[in-house]
Amino acid sequence: MSAMSKPKVKKINHVAIVVEDIDEALKFWDEGLGVELSHIQEVPSQESRVAFLPTGESEIELVQPTSNDSGVARYLEKRGPGMHHICVEVEDIREALAHLKEKDIRLINEVPEERDGILYAFIHPESTQGVLVELYELPEEKRD
Ligand code: CO
Repeated sequence: MSAMSKPKVKKINHVAIVVEDIDEALKFWDEGLGVELSHIQEVPSQESRVAFLPTGESEIELVQPTSNDSGVARYLEKRGPGMHHICVEVEDIREALAHLKEKDIRLINEVPEERDGILYAFIHPESTQGVLVELYELPEEKRD
């Protein structure tokens, strides 16, 4: 038996959707459905721009590639627009990754990456019934 405990999941932080054109996508999400755009951010490390649309405790993120050869661009090319990943916020990402690894879950990032103080890591769809899953650990000041 393992002494390691299961990760503490706080909430779904965001659902990311790959789009060809953020402005076009906002016609549905913002103007149609009324999920209001908070802001659009350039994410050079991912070669994409991201529109953030808060929905209560969680967000919809619309991700538009800004180059032709990034991971997101290749995804769009291959599968067309659609759901890209779901992000689950955990209390302690390193503990969560260690636990998953112990359970033989295939990780894309064995060590968390960091952006704007947020620690994140991806879990391989092979181990999740086909859904790319991202983990987030927020810094103290960004927690609810
Ligand atoms: Co994400």
